Amino acid sequence: MVEYILWFLTIYGPPMASNGFPVLVRGEKPLDKGKNFIDNRRILGDGKTVEGLAAGLLGGYTASLSVAALRESFFYILAGLAASAAALLGDIAASFIKRRLGLERGAPLPLVDQLDFMVAATLTYMALGLIGPGDAGYVAYSFIIVAALHVASNNIAYILGLKQTRW
Ligand code: CTP
Ligand code: MG
Repeated sequence: MVEYILWFLTIYGPPMASNGFPVLVRGEKPLDKGKNFIDNRRILGDGKTVEGLAAGLLGGYTASLSVAALRESFFYILAGLAASAAALLGDIAASFIKRRLGLERGAPLPLVDQLDFMVAATLTYMALGLIGPGDAGYVAYSFIIVAALHVASNNIAYILGLKQTRW
């Protein structure tokens, strides 16, 4: 159990921080500059902003520093930053897909909303050799835990007025 928690914080701490920070800054500069795609729908929508991306990178970097200190290895700064950047890109890619499906900003797409960033971070760690076939069980647990945490934290963000929707 302790071993799993340490693994979870090491691996998913940075991407979770990078995914959670953007909602705190109330960004106003959309990454797509308000432009539409060829289907006349927004490329990404107002939910993906420059400020949010910057806050996410900063959050992921801060968490990576903590992990590197915990693990006493500078490698985790790089790994955590790569996973955080991938997590943010994964979330942006999910918004691109949602807009192509005709879903407005904030409309729910179950599982994709909760796990887009986890999939991107996991693939990055696989590429870096930090996650291998032997970690499949831990990864599966983590997806379940994060999906549940995501639903809970989004409800809190909604109640606090940080988010327009519960999901
Ligand atoms: N956010 C941001 N910039 C990002 C990612 C997120 O500013 N790169 C902020 C936005 O305020 C967004 C909130 O974090 O509303 C929650 O993110 P998310 O749930 O991913 O966005 P949604 O508003 O649900 O939009 P979408 O339908 O595109 O997922
Ligand atoms: Mg959302």
